[in-house]
Amino acid sequence: MHQPDREWIQDKLSSLTAHADELQRVGDAADEPNFGPWTALKLIVLTATVDVYTQIIHDYDFDPYYVDAMAGSGITELDGGRDTLIGSPIVAGTVAHEPFSKMFLIEQNEERAEALRDRLEFATEEIDTFTQSRDEWVVIEGDTNEELPSIPSRVRDERGGYLGGQDGQDGAHHLAFIDNERVEVEFDSLRRLSSMWGDLLINYQEKGINREIGLIESGEKDGWDEILAFFDDDAHIQRDSTPNERFELYLGKLDSINRSEYESLTIHGSDEHPYGYKMIYATRPTGGGSEYVEFMETYQRKIEALTGDDIENVLDTMKGTSTHLGLWSPDEDSQSRLGGF
Ligand SMILES: C[S@@+](CC[C@H](N)C(=O)[O-])C[C@H]1O[C@@H](n2cnc3c(N)ncnc32)[C@H](O)[C@@H]1O
Repeated sequence: MHQPDREWIQDKLSSLTAHADELQRVGDAADEPNFGPWTALKLIVLTATVDVYTQIIHDYDFDPYYVDAMAGSGITELDGGRDTLIGSPIVAGTVAHEPFSKMFLIEQNEERAEALRDRLEFATEEIDTFTQSRDEWVVIEGDTNEELPSIPSRVRDERGGYLGGQDGQDGAHHLAFIDNERVEVEFDSLRRLSSMWGDLLINYQEKGINREIGLIESGEKDGWDEILAFFDDDAHIQRDSTPNERFELYLGKLDSINRSEYESLTIHGSDEHPYGYKMIYATRPTGGGSEYVEFMETYQRKIEALTGDDIENVLDTMKGTSTHLGLWSPDEDSQSRLGGF
């Protein structure tokens, strides 16, 4: 039986719960989506990614931009509001070692986009650890497949018409979080985004994709269009592909847009929801991205040993409702500052 490293999980969760209740009260999104407790593992991976990315990119003298293709409302409600964590845009704006030159945050749902704006205003004014200023983030309300391809030209406009810098220094570079719930982000959108230098952190919904393909093949669901667009309109996907072959096909597509260096890890659901998805970090074979890939190899072991049940247990402990009460006491410092990965 695996022994979860409870202290490590609690440290990471303290960062994700800090200010979450205040932020929840600020926004007014009537329809917050509901997430399982394993979602915390995804946010821990994002935290580590932003932490390492912003350190490395600084060393390489790039000018970093953050892109959130599916930004959400700024908070993450677990189990119907039983626990609340901060959402990905707040994580990114809090963990970055130096502020991003700009954060582009795309959300289709009008109420969530509005709530995200309100929460970012609040974070900018009231949360010391959130280091982006008011003109360093923008919420773009719209369909990510229309908006993602426009990001390179938006960045160019921000920089007076240039993506590259003088003598290769200060060139623009992005970290894009592609947090698919299903197969929303079409491969062609990634290709067009990737006309600018950048790294991708992709939520690859492995079990969800298998399930959808099963439903289409059995005639319970219509149409291949969305799945095909996700896999770059590659008809191989329709020819009795296995889950592994699909994943390899997707990695091959990333290779075709010069993001051939990658590391992936699996987020496990819970006993009740034996569910899972992969997080893929994809980068170019040269430069700082390779350092991130090496770092992620060690991180993978810790994350893959955990499930949503471990997260629920530790969150209960932190609220004092679990039998594990008193094993350790919350660390005040880790509540106030994200990072330290
Ligand atoms: C998994 S949630 C995002 C969670 C967020 N990344 C976080 O970690 O806090 C996915 C979000 O994508 C939005 N969404 C779904 N389809 C979209 C699309 N085509 N374009 C833009 N946003 C979309 C949904 O409204 C939802 O808020």
